[in-house]
Amino acid sequence: MRFLDHAVIVTGAAQGIGREIACAFVREGARVAALDIDQGGLDSLAAEMGGDKIMPLVADVTKSADVTRAVGSVLARWQRVDILVNNAGGFKELRRTEDIPEDEWDFILRFNLSSVFLLSKAVLPTMKQQRHGRIVNVSSFVRGGVVTVTSHYAAAKAGILGFTRHLAREAGPDGITVNAVAPGVVSTERYRSIRSPTEIARTVETIPARRLGETGDVAGSVLFLASADAAYITGATLDVNGGFLMTG
Ligand SMILES: NC(=O)c1ccc[n+]([C@@H]2O[C@H](COP(=O)([O-])OP(=O)(O)OC[C@H]3O[C@@H](n4cnc5c(N)ncnc54)[C@H](O)[C@@H]3O)[C@@H](O)[C@H]2O)c1
Repeated sequence: MRFLDHAVIVTGAAQGIGREIACAFVREGARVAALDIDQGGLDSLAAEMGGDKIMPLVADVTKSADVTRAVGSVLARWQRVDILVNNAGGFKELRRTEDIPEDEWDFILRFNLSSVFLLSKAVLPTMKQQRHGRIVNVSSFVRGGVVTVTSHYAAAKAGILGFTRHLAREAGPDGITVNAVAPGVVSTERYRSIRSPTEIARTVETIPARRLGETGDVAGSVLFLASADAAYITGATLDVNGGFLMTG
């Protein structure tokens, strides 16, 4: 078990990729604080994985008061935070840039990017005191300009990489690594609900691996970057996209 008794925080853990990441950590022995706004989803996660291993915390990652309260609950229960996975993010509407309302731009940046700052800020004092910590941020292949999605989301996911590299430099001397995972197209329920079978088949044809990503593909990479095997990797972006976008 690679993460026996490690204290882990995963945001957006009630469904999709975040849920798979939370479950993968529990299977490797960790205790996971699962942050989400979806109480029902968190309850079902705790029922699936066991209440002693999952701490469900209803918290909105866009709100600093919620983030402070959630991290406070983790510290009260476990007195440490070994790993933070900033997974919560996404967008609802595909829009051309000229059609994006300003308030939606602000919200998408807050949900996808400012949340990463808020959570990191909340755990850094503890990780520095421990002289050990792992932060893994979930970006996206859309930051590479390979597909037309929507510009606020692409900007936020690119911004995550700048934040990741800067924080890696800043917190490295305190024993903290900060890395990003950039998934390609992942076959979540949400993705399958917004794309037709024809669109999905067309997308698969453009992926060298000739399949969509699975949530387990992303979780495996997150656990690697959080593990002792990745102790000398920081400021990196790990593309998990079947070859859709290749960067160097
Ligand atoms: N699915 C993909 O194809 C794909 C591809 C690349 C990157 N990503 C990224 O991976 C991450 C997870 O994506 P997913 O497809 O699993 O998403 P999802 O929409 O399936 O799940 C997101 C989770 O976040 C929770 N959430 C929503 N708003 C929240 C808030 N304000 N505070 C806390 N929790 C909140 C939701 O309740 C949900 O449980 C996101 O950052 C996304 O941008 C996804």
